[in-house]
Amino acid sequence: MFEKSALDYLYRERDDFTPLVVMMCGIAGSGKTTFSQKLEKAGFVRLSIDEEVWSANGRYGIDYPIEKYREYLDRAHARLRDKLVKLIHNKDQIVIDSSFWRKSERVEYKKLVEAAGGKWCIIYLKVSHADLLHRLKMRSKRFDANAAFPITEEVLTDFLNRFEVPKGEGEIVIEY
Ligand SMILES: Nc1ncnc2c1ncn2[C@@H]1O[C@H](COP(=O)(O)OP(=O)(O)OP(=O)(O)O)[C@@H](O)[C@H]1O
Ligand SMILES: [Mg+2]
Repeated sequence: MFEKSALDYLYRERDDFTPLVVMMCGIAGSGKTTFSQKLEKAGFVRLSIDEEVWSANGRYGIDYPIEKYREYLDRAHARLRDKLVKLIHNKDQIVIDSSFWRKSERVEYKKLVEAAGGKWCIIYLKVSHADLLHRLKMRSKRFDANAAFPITEEVLTDFLNRFEVPKGEGEIVIEY
């Protein structure tokens, strides 16, 4: 699907009784933050795992040692889940700006959303290796919550090897 068609579809799917929860799925640099910020402009509440860590713990490798990152990330995920449930109860439309790399995590969130009274949609951003490298290189000039550390070619290859591509999970694929 093209990005514009996906955005139009998500706008139509907003529902005041059964709120829509968009789950962004994709490797680092695929554009999850950029895409979810477009939904935010249209009134969705954006829950960002990276901004959650940044606001609670500060800058990676500066305000806390790199070894602490995993622990802080786990705690941020717990807070994000709590916020998600409250927002669904409040009938907000939501977008989760996290990576959803693992299938088990996608399954867990689908259940959480449904149990809280919402409906989910997975948006998978499919970007070629070469484009990812280019995007990440451009982004590495920035330093903020959504560009917290530069991702090298080596790290990207490791991410690609570990990423569990969604297939037959009800995902909408946007191919760039
Ligand atoms: N559709 C697009 N076309 C070209 N460049 C894009 C597109 N979407 C995002 N970018 C650029 O690619 C870079 C990575 O995008 P973004 O930060 O949104 O990715 P991300 O999936 O959130 O990454 P991460 O998992 O590391 O948070 C940014 O510099 C952004 O401006
Ligand atoms: Mg991001």
